Amino acid sequence: PEEKAALKERIRKLLKEREAVLVAHYYVDGDLQDLAEETGGCVSDSLEMARFGRDHPAKTLVVAGVRFMGETAKILSPEKTILMPDLDATCSLDLGCPADEFAAFCDQHPDRTVVVYANTSAAVKARADWMVTSSIGLDIVAHLHAQGKKILWAPDKHLGGYIQKKTGADMLLWQGSCIVHDEFKGVELELLKAEHPNAKVLVHPESPASVVAMADVVGSTTQLINAAQTLDASEFIVATDNGILHKMRMAAPGKHFIEAPTAGNSATCKSCAHCPWMAMNGLQNLADVLESGKNEIFVDPEIGKQAVRAIDRMLDFAA
Ligand code: 13P
Ligand code: SF4
Repeated sequence: PEEKAALKERIRKLLKEREAVLVAHYYVDGDLQDLAEETGGCVSDSLEMARFGRDHPAKTLVVAGVRFMGETAKILSPEKTILMPDLDATCSLDLGCPADEFAAFCDQHPDRTVVVYANTSAAVKARADWMVTSSIGLDIVAHLHAQGKKILWAPDKHLGGYIQKKTGADMLLWQGSCIVHDEFKGVELELLKAEHPNAKVLVHPESPASVVAMADVVGSTTQLINAAQTLDASEFIVATDNGILHKMRMAAPGKHFIEAPTAGNSATCKSCAHCPWMAMNGLQNLADVLESGKNEIFVDPEIGKQAVRAIDRMLDFAA
């Protein structure tokens, strides 16, 4: 514990010395989330991380999350230095949507408006008309659908399928998925719900349709935390990465949170729902990058210029 306290102190000091700000996602270690808040940074969902990083005057941003979050920060602020605790922290959605295959898919469907999820590489965003996050994807597709647009969507098939169902839009879906959310199981969730009939079910839309169908609230990480705070219930079943429980428990003290079941055996799989790439962020590697300045994120400036259009469209829409 003393080592931990010393590390945290070193990080606070290094953030000041470097005039850097820490931007963290709700799925990373709770200590990093707390540090981000305490030191004037932010902990939030992907949309707010992007906006906060763009608007903050600091010259250096340290992004505790996964690679696409660091890249989005760099695309929005090419003049800033963006550091990440581990450059290998990727995302199965990003990995499952290689830019060349995606470009070929777009070429086959030139009549469609290309909407991509934030969880993609800079090169994929460069090919898109719009980028969206889970908090605003539904509203943006509804808006495009109202204009009579047909959509090409990538990469998350569950989020795409959910939006398609809600909006009735004509959407052609890339078949990607999140390895964490894909593991939540509808049948096991039904059984768990039967044991806790008064619990409200909070679901991230990267989950399969059978899980989303049981949700009281479907939303981004920030939206799910807000729901935990505001819904009149004392018990919640949560179908998203269990890193979120840190903030939920702080935001709604006295309420009880249960992890939604994953895989076959929920009795022995108490904490399967944790992203291995988010877990690469820790106090030690955060302190190391702040000290050395290594692990800087770079995006090809030409690709960045193309990609920023799709991100700006979303941010303008959200404003
Ligand atoms: P949010 O934008 O909801 O925070 O989601 C990001 C993510 O990677 C979910 O798996
Ligand atoms: Fe990607 Fe899933 Fe990890 Fe989010 S939780 S970063 S979608 S692999």
